[in-house]
Parts: sequence; C-alpha cells; structure tokens
Amino acid sequence: MHAATVIYPGTFDPITNGHVDLVERASRLFDNVIVAIASSERKQPMFTLEERIRLAEASLSHLDNIEVCGFNRLLVDFAEEKGAQAVMRGLRAVSDFEYEFQLANMNRAISKMESIFLTPAERFSYISSSLVKEIASLGGDVSQFVPDAVVPELKLRFNK
Ligand code: COA
Repeated sequence: MHAATVIYPGTFDPITNGHVDLVERASRLFDNVIVAIASSERKQPMFTLEERIRLAEASLSHLDNIEVCGFNRLLVDFAEEKGAQAVMRGLRAVSDFEYEFQLANMNRAISKMESIFLTPAERFSYISSSLVKEIASLGGDVSQFVPDAVVPELKLRFNK
C-alpha cells in the first residue's frame, strides 16, 4: 500500500499559528505532510524564500512526518514529483471559499490532482500573515498569533 502523502502549499510570509494548527491536524491524518513554500514573487513577500523555509522548519520541528520545501513552479507538477496524492488547503471562513474553489478546480483541470480542506481551530480563524505583519510593523504584540521562532524575526524586521 502507498503511504498517504498530502502537500500543503502557501506563501507562509511568515508561518502563523493557524498554519501550524493545520499542519498538526494533517500530520495526524496522513503518513507524510509536505509543506510547500511558494516563492510567490507576485506577492512580493517580506521574508525571502530561505527565511520562510527556515521559520517553517523551526515552527514544525515538534512533528516528525513533515517535510518543508520551497518551490518555484506549477504546484501540481511539484506535487506529482513529490508523490503527493492530494493538495491540502485551509478554510478559515466562508470568504476563503470562492478563491479556494477556483484554485482546486483549476488544479484538477490541469492535472487531475484532488484537493482536500481542513479548518483551523476557531481561535485561529481570523489570523492572516498580512495582518500579523501590519500589527508588528506598528509595534503591536503578535506573540499569540505566530510561533516563538517568528516573533524575534518580525521585531528585527520592523526594528520594534
Ligand atoms: N492560518 C493563518 N493564515 C492562513 C491560513 C491559516 N490556517 N490559511 C491561509 N492563511 C492566510 C495566509 O496567511 C495568507 O495571508 P496573506 O494573504 O495575508 O499573506 C492567505 O491566507 C492566503 O495565502 P496563502 O495560504 O499563502 O496562499 P496563497 O494564496 O498566497 O498561495 C498558492 C497560493 C501558493 C497555493 C498558489 O499561488 C500556487 O499554487 N502557486 C504555485 C503556482 C501555481 O501552480 N499556480 C497555479 C494555481 S492554479
């Protein structure tokens, strides 16, 4: 029997407690979870790809069936190369649905790759990387929203 592998793509700029919550849930459901960090140049990420990978690795080091990788190509091609059977995405609120529905259908149209969705714990449903960066840039405390490894990196970035 094949090991069940799921791939969890995103920009992770930076990884938040909501992302970690989702990976923890997936790690209990699947044999392997690949956290795939997209270079996402169009989004002009604040952290470099290498920094985002390092922060995700540090934040997920308590889980042993996780692999963190960067990628800069079509997600479905990367997923197939890694042997993933499905793409996993998080649904935080109804507002996420339309975009995720489009992404899932497009991925299936170009590759037959299926998508599955998990919901994070309610207390993480309003977190986003952009809001975390905005709060940190204005000197706010983001320690309840991001893993410990991310807090000093945000402080350093914004000199707060
Ligand atoms: N907890 C906290 N935040 C969450 C979250 C969770 N559980 N789930 C999503 N988010 C937030 C992210 O922080 C991010 O916030 P931001 O916009 O404020 O930065 C937002 O939701 C969505 O971003 P993200 O999860 O990073 O996804 P994305 O939309 O940037 O990434 C890719 C989309 C990378 C999956 C997609 O662009 C892709 O597949 N790219 C590769 C190229 C490709 O194949 N393109 C064709 C696609 S059909």
